[in-house]
Amino acid sequence: MHSIEVIFTPALLPLYEIKSKTVVIIDILRATSSMCVAFHTGVNKILPVSTPEECRIFKDFDFIIAAERNAEKVEGFDMGNSPFEYENPFLKGKNIAFTTTNGTKAIRLAKNMGAGAVVIGSFLNLDYLCARLKEKKHDIVLLCAGWKDKYNLEDTLFAGAVISRIGQGYSIDDDASISALSLFDHHRDNLEGLVRRSSHARRFTRLHMQTDDVAFCMQQNLYNILPVIEGEYIVAAKPAQPAAPSAAGSVIG
Ligand code: MLT
Repeated sequence: MHSIEVIFTPALLPLYEIKSKTVVIIDILRATSSMCVAFHTGVNKILPVSTPEECRIFKDFDFIIAAERNAEKVEGFDMGNSPFEYENPFLKGKNIAFTTTNGTKAIRLAKNMGAGAVVIGSFLNLDYLCARLKEKKHDIVLLCAGWKDKYNLEDTLFAGAVISRIGQGYSIDDDASISALSLFDHHRDNLEGLVRRSSHARRFTRLHMQTDDVAFCMQQNLYNILPVIEGEYIVAAKPAQPAAPSAAGSVIG
């Protein structure tokens, strides 16, 4: 039976074996949520980069440049990391070079550490993500982006939501998965209420953020979209094809 594991922060990633596994990147507030919005809007591809300095270079190569640090848009960039920004129809067909405090770092780390596949999860594509994961019959790692390598509430809550939906078909032995599922089960009737108590939601409040990004990111199943890493880029996975009778399970790509 295939396994599901939860990794609470990228700092713990070196302790795990992720080769040949499908790694789901989770950054509910807000990178993976914003990426799902971007592909729903029709963005062509997203290049996750490590630093604002590196990101800025791509302006000269006809990329939209988007940078967030400490929950704020970086001065001099076209976009930050609010999901509302990614609803802009101007983005249709565009390429975005993107760097955030946690989410793009987790993506690059999982890719560089040899994950079998790297896919993007958020509450906005939760059921579609779960359906695609179940289809592929693969070991799954739910990697929480956290906050600067520390644990955060909303990413672990989402990991629990995934396990609640598909965990019955997998072996679950790690305490992080059991903790995530327990957190989700305990708060399933008011997920947003819990997330509004999180350190990151309180950070938004301190910054007097003009948009309610928590409300946006806690909506469920808006999009049947699965962003996946292909080479250096994040693209929208092609719609699921009915598996040929002889097709063995393979990584999501
Ligand atoms: C992220 O990676 O999503 C950022 O760390 C948090 C944010 O955009 O507020």
